[in-house]
Amino acid sequence: MQTLSEMAVDVLTTADGREKTAKSRAYAARWFDARAAGEEIPIGTATPPLRPARPEAPALLDPREVPKRKPGSPQGRIALLHAVAHIELNAVDLHWDIIPRFAATPLPPGFYDDWVKAADEESKHFNLMCDCLEEAGSHYGALPAHAGMWRAAEDTAEDLFGRLAVVPMVLEARGLDVTPGMIEIFRKAGADSAVAALETIYAEEVGHVAYGSKWYHFLCGRHDVDPLPQFHALVRHYFKGALKPPFNEEKRAEAGLAPDFYWPLAGEPRP
Ligand SMILES: [Fe+2]
Ligand SMILES: [Fe+2]
Repeated sequence: MQTLSEMAVDVLTTADGREKTAKSRAYAARWFDARAAGEEIPIGTATPPLRPARPEAPALLDPREVPKRKPGSPQGRIALLHAVAHIELNAVDLHWDIIPRFAATPLPPGFYDDWVKAADEESKHFNLMCDCLEEAGSHYGALPAHAGMWRAAEDTAEDLFGRLAVVPMVLEARGLDVTPGMIEIFRKAGADSAVAALETIYAEEVGHVAYGSKWYHFLCGRHDVDPLPQFHALVRHYFKGALKPPFNEEKRAEAGLAPDFYWPLAGEPRP
């Protein structure tokens, strides 16, 4: 029987975006069908690639070389959708990567439920963004994208505390801060399908941040570590630069992220 780690590595080593997300969704369905039937898919072991396979396009550029987008124009909106599609594809890989990467750490089945569900949702998000791009006459791969996206995964490849602190609790939490502004841009442009897609993303990302916070606190409890100072130390170590206010305090709270976690890491004092 194919183990969950083997499924994860299959997703990670699939280059094409639509093919990657199709596998991701099929494996997620297999996992949850088995869980519902009371059957056990073993977590197993498999070696995840240091970097996941990606399609030939988009070209990956240093963030400083990615052309700045002006969201007021149709081209700017396409660039924005393209950037979100790229983030979502990266997120699919991030959520599958955590499974085989840390398979040596025994964790309750709920840990796998959460990340498989998150990976399934990221797959849906990528497909939604691709649909919106195609509706606008473009496609994923038509524009250059950020090269640095996988950096956080490589930096935290041997530190599950660091992975949870930086990926869901910093990077995905940042998504909660910026998504309402993006939705407004598309609403003003009357782009209904993009508004609906981004609202789905916004609603589901709260869960991913919450999974991060839940399992971070679980691990702290297991090792009798004080969560707050350890979080600050991990983010300072793995995440270069300050966190950017304004923060979406309401959605962060919904996801179990209290202000004393992120405000001390902001480049400015709390107002
Ligand atoms: Fe997402
Ligand atoms: Fe996410």
